[in-house]
Amino acid sequence: MSTVGSESNPARIAIIGAGPAGFYAAERFFRTADLHVFVDVYDRLPTPHGLVRAGVAPDHEKIKNVTRVFDKTASNPDFRFFGNVEYGSHVSLDDLKRFYHQVYFSTGAQVDRRLGIPGENLPRSHSATEFVAWYNGHPDYRDLEFDLSQEQVAIIGMGNVAVDVARILAKTVDELAGTDITDYALEALAESKVKDIFMIGRRGPAQTAFTTPEIKEMGELADASTVVLADEFELDPVSAAALEESPDRMTSKKLEIMAAFVGGSLPGAKRNCHLRFLLSPTELIAGNDGGVSSMRLVRNRLELQDGGRIGCTPTETEIELPVGLVFRSVGYRGVALPGLPFNDSWGVVRNEFGRVVDDSGNTCVGCYVGGWIKRGPTGVIGTNKPDAFETVDLMIEDLSAGKHFDPESTDSESIQSFVHDRQPHLISYDDWLQIDAAERTAGESRDRPRVKFTSVEEMLEVLERD
Ligand SMILES: Cc1cc2nc3c(=O)[nH]c(=O)nc-3n(C[C@H](O)[C@H](O)[C@H](O)COP(=O)(O)OP(=O)(O)OC[C@H]3O[C@@H](n4cnc5c(N)ncnc54)[C@H](O)[C@@H]3O)c2cc1C
Ligand SMILES: NC(=O)c1ccc[n+]([C@@H]2O[C@H](COP(=O)([O-])OP(=O)(O)OC[C@H]3O[C@@H](n4cnc5c(N)ncnc54)[C@H](OP(=O)(O)O)[C@@H]3O)[C@@H](O)[C@H]2O)c1
Repeated sequence: MSTVGSESNPARIAIIGAGPAGFYAAERFFRTADLHVFVDVYDRLPTPHGLVRAGVAPDHEKIKNVTRVFDKTASNPDFRFFGNVEYGSHVSLDDLKRFYHQVYFSTGAQVDRRLGIPGENLPRSHSATEFVAWYNGHPDYRDLEFDLSQEQVAIIGMGNVAVDVARILAKTVDELAGTDITDYALEALAESKVKDIFMIGRRGPAQTAFTTPEIKEMGELADASTVVLADEFELDPVSAAALEESPDRMTSKKLEIMAAFVGGSLPGAKRNCHLRFLLSPTELIAGNDGGVSSMRLVRNRLELQDGGRIGCTPTETEIELPVGLVFRSVGYRGVALPGLPFNDSWGVVRNEFGRVVDDSGNTCVGCYVGGWIKRGPTGVIGTNKPDAFETVDLMIEDLSAGKHFDPESTDSESIQSFVHDRQPHLISYDDWLQIDAAERTAGESRDRPRVKFTSVEEMLEVLERD
């Protein structure tokens, strides 16, 4: 038998997860010279593109143009999309082994990290993950409710997701109306009584995780000020020494931008966003109605830890902040996948450069990972490209070495009918393009890029399926 991947014996690859890491992997396969390959991309949602659709903020429309690159990959005749098909419920690893030589998992990081403090489960305490998925119309989150009648809101964390949440809460309806934010979120935000948004960082301004353009935008809001307290902004000796020893342009630029927020405020602004530093929440406290009414925090000081990281330690000083709504935005977390070894402390599938390995470090032949489920929830869309390429190059190396599953059939029609038996409502890429076109058409008359369908039923209706 000829090598798998040759013209007479093409490789059949399954990709689980149609986010950036999935599409970049497909692209790499198709661009590899002399490799003959068929790629089937599965996603649990009828819509492809992962967090580009369900995570990227509605007012960051340009970033979503990356989907044009994904559409180009999908136009390859050897690409198929099996949308609305979930690994772990509709198909299992044993099923996939029957039809594919290799399986690449790019399921992302689906859930949030928790703070582990008393009161975290109180009503009006949410994860940013939920809020983001809600305003972006992820079908699993569309029915959530957030009490925007609260005037004081806290967001825990100083990453880009925290900034996204703060900005969406701070913007006026006019600023959001021309975006692809869901109608129900726009309506809820139009009624919002939010006045003060506190972003809480456990470390100092020099250790913020957000990037420069994102914090710059916080100074450009139509009817909201961004404010920093002078004493919390003052650079501590540890950070000052670290910056002097190894100057970092991005940190310096961010400090320069934030310096303009010190003491400043837009006269008469409807909302204020307060960047607070060196504070860790220790408890969420319930009010008379049982929901969050305030938050206890401890003041931290910074210290240099082993390995050179600047960490924080609690002091004796505590404060209480009256807030009626809390979003924790302290990072995402991968979810274990049936049949694959999982590193629970890191929230990733165990792997070495993308090759899945068991607890003893032995390679699990035929299984690979890419994107957030491989390396954890960090990095922008583009970061997933070299990450996916690294894994795919190893997959191709393994194909040549004969390290792959031995499927009983790689016949296209057999796979299609097997998947269809498991999920009769399966969505092809052409189906998705039809849904996409209907969303864009609905947006045209309202001067919006699209009006999103937020339930699987609505999407099936567009396709005239029950
Ligand atoms: C709120 C937020 C905003 C962001 N904004 C930006 C931004 O503005 N610019 C930027 O460059 N980066 C942004 N990022 C980062 C970027 O979105 C990620 O780097 C990227 O999406 C990770 O790609 P991925 O393919 O690993 O995961 P994902 O994009 O999460 O894709 C995973 C896919 O797997 C599917 N899936 C999960 N489980 C299963 C299963 N069991 N079976 C089948 N399918 C499954 C999911 O439905 C999803 O489609 C943002 C991230 C977040 C969280
Ligand atoms: N516009 C964009 O390009 C964009 C938008 C959104 C997301 N993204 C990317 O997506 C990735 C994920 O973003 P993210 O914001 O979820 O994660 P992140 O960048 O890792 O930020 C997490 C934040 O939470 C803080 N934190 C963690 N544990 C905490 C705890 N127990 N208590 C208090 N604070 C805690 C971190 O502080 P410490 O630093 O002290 O740990 C950090 O400020 C990032 O790479 C981000 O750049 C990009």
